Amino acid sequence: MNQSTRAHWSGRLAFILAAAGSAIGLGNIWKFPYITGENGGGAFVLVYLACIAMVGLPILIAEMYIGQKAQKNTVTSFEVIHKKGTFWRVPGWLGLCSAFLILSFYSVVGGWIFDFEFRSLIGEFRGASDEAIEATLGGLFKNWPRQLFWHTVFMGLTVGIVVSGVKDGLERWNKILMPVLLGILGMLLVYSMFLPGFGNAITFLFSPDFSKLTSAGLLEAVGHSFFTLSLGMGTLITYGSYLNKNENLPKIAVAVAFMDTMIALVAGIVIFSVVYTYDMEPSAGPGLILVTLPKLFSKMTGGYFVSVTFFLLVSFAALTSAVSILETVVAYWDETRNVARKKGTIIVGIVIYLVGLLSVFSTNLLDGFRMGKGILAKDGLTFFDLFDKLTSSYFLPIGGLLIALFFGWVAGPAAIREATKSDSAILNGGLLWTARIVAPLAVFAVLYNLVIGF
Ligand code: PHE
Repeated sequence: MNQSTRAHWSGRLAFILAAAGSAIGLGNIWKFPYITGENGGGAFVLVYLACIAMVGLPILIAEMYIGQKAQKNTVTSFEVIHKKGTFWRVPGWLGLCSAFLILSFYSVVGGWIFDFEFRSLIGEFRGASDEAIEATLGGLFKNWPRQLFWHTVFMGLTVGIVVSGVKDGLERWNKILMPVLLGILGMLLVYSMFLPGFGNAITFLFSPDFSKLTSAGLLEAVGHSFFTLSLGMGTLITYGSYLNKNENLPKIAVAVAFMDTMIALVAGIVIFSVVYTYDMEPSAGPGLILVTLPKLFSKMTGGYFVSVTFFLLVSFAALTSAVSILETVVAYWDETRNVARKKGTIIVGIVIYLVGLLSVFSTNLLDGFRMGKGILAKDGLTFFDLFDKLTSSYFLPIGGLLIALFFGWVAGPAAIREATKSDSAILNGGLLWTARIVAPLAVFAVLYNLVIGF
């Protein structure tokens, strides 16, 4: 595709919503609460918030700038800005690997959400006992054909949307669904304020106890700040490449990071209010929201309606993120390998779908199969956990570190001025040195601490 025919967002708002649509997804509503629970709450949340502000935000601007400037996919963009064959294509390649792995398990979790939407619709949670709700999730994990079915539906929809392209596929849905999601979460927040566990939830999330934070937890917080903002794998380079060249990036980046963080925190407050109201375990793991929320819905007035709407919205939030992951790979193929968009999308979609089977089987057929015992985790990891850990804790932070270095040292001060469209020495200098030193050092220190140890 050449520059003049390249598709573009219809405007600034469309881009903000698309970037927010990518950022806001299962990372906020499913993953943030459960990893916060596993890592003891407050201290983890604090590190995560610090990373969003000091590491995430500059890299968000860097990625958007690289795409906006080069108007190319995530690998070629580095060549356009630097030179052909540059070493700096490495974060682009790494990002493509991350995209394959992330989407493969993301689609399986998206499938769980679809399943819970279906169950909500047929009224399965209405008046259901707490035991029955707990058994539902356990049953789904053991039932691989059911998971496979929903994984197929989820990937099918993702491919369908990406095939339709930037304007008709991505833009239209984001515009409608994101604002509705904000509304319903706000409503659940108000509801949770009246639950007896609300106070404990706030204490758990916002009073840090650093003795509970391990070095693995620290890396998970850093990694999650990348995952949740869709950073470190070129998604925002790709989305930025559909943006006109005159948009002001720092403002957009702040808006996206702010919305993303608010949604995660609100989801956390709602979920932990339920956890503490019903005396549940905060560290229940990946199934956390699928046990807590149905318990809430089964008891609240209007629970049927809230549950149907809520899972529907989470399904859409997951889809808009999944679409952005697939788009990252497809844009690369489309531009560099001359594979027609439709064909490319379908092929890539099928490969990712097949890799996803390993995650489908992780809670049943391959349950006993663990890798990296004693190295990656004490008891080893299932495929599902491996793909998640490898990408969130390693690939995305390393990709982000390289992107920050590229932005700060290779593209340099001129690029930064171009990205901010401002002459403010504080803004430009701050951004330059966070990209050059602060962000890379923070990521490096955390990785070093975990792998080698200080
Ligand atoms: N940010 C998305 C979420 O929080 C996931 C994602 C990761 C999307 C990486 C794109 C790239 O659900």
